[in-house]
Amino acid sequence: MSSDQPQCEQLTSWGGLRHLLTLEGLPRDMLVDLMDRAEAYLRAAGEPPARDDALVGRTVANLFFEPSTRTRASFELAAKRMNADVLNLDVNTSSRKKGESILDTIYTLQAMQVDVFVVRDASAGVPALIASEVQPHVSVLNAGEATVSHPTQGLLDLMTIRHHKTDFARLAVAIVGDIAHSRVARSAAQGLHTMGTRDLRLVAPPGLEPDPACYPGARITNDLNAGLAGADVVMTLRIQNERLREHETLIDAAEYHRQYGITRERLLRAKPDAIVMHPGPMNRGVEIASDVADGPQSVITEQVTNGLAMRMALLATVIETRQQR
Ligand code: CP
Repeated sequence: MSSDQPQCEQLTSWGGLRHLLTLEGLPRDMLVDLMDRAEAYLRAAGEPPARDDALVGRTVANLFFEPSTRTRASFELAAKRMNADVLNLDVNTSSRKKGESILDTIYTLQAMQVDVFVVRDASAGVPALIASEVQPHVSVLNAGEATVSHPTQGLLDLMTIRHHKTDFARLAVAIVGDIAHSRVARSAAQGLHTMGTRDLRLVAPPGLEPDPACYPGARITNDLNAGLAGADVVMTLRIQNERLREHETLIDAAEYHRQYGITRERLLRAKPDAIVMHPGPMNRGVEIASDVADGPQSVITEQVTNGLAMRMALLATVIETRQQR
């Protein structure tokens, strides 16, 4: 997709959420409403999961053209727990393998009365392209777009941070790893900015620093110790070897761990009550030591739980928006 990709408004004229394509520009009140709504879907471990009929008679299609465990499974469970019909397109056996375009795939499924498309794709602009083409009553949720955007991850990350740290404006947040290729970091930064966080440190090895234009106000550094100093939140990221370009060299895992891995010793530089986050999938012993991933400061499994609740909140919200149109 080129940069002259179609522009598509994700909000209705009256401010309802029709599509979720990016967190950039979404109003703070909407982020707070989504977090509140998602929290209402949380249940204690061992209790039956939350269920409701918000999606009865609706059809949700999950189209994942890149691998996924958490996002795909949680969207499927979210839709089923709200009593939607759910279609999980098997991309390896779909007609895209025979050359069908993404839009022809969408038109085909739309003709089967799909109401919500959940889309993950390796090309930038695909969610917006689909959103610009679907019928007015249909919604598109971006489930991961190239290196550009992962807004549902950003929302579940905000929700997790809010549970532990009440005032976003007073937080120091360190995101550590392959920031250059990270859609997770982009969406987290956009959400944190809207919530008022001013102290955002982006720690990347040389060569994997982000474009500063994508992170206004953030401090970009190669110095892990400086980035961790006094942090309230430490978010560590996987090296995305699959996204390295030809001129970029594969990173040696052991060397990366030695220089940038989050270990118990390094974590001592952050605040004693700092939380440790990771969007998954994790490479234990590379970007994060196992005893940190499983340690008392880790909120990684909580992120997964919150992800399901947030996806329920999003599905319910876009269907509600449709009913008010
Ligand atoms: N965080 C995340 O997007 O994980 P998956 O790739 O497993 O969906």
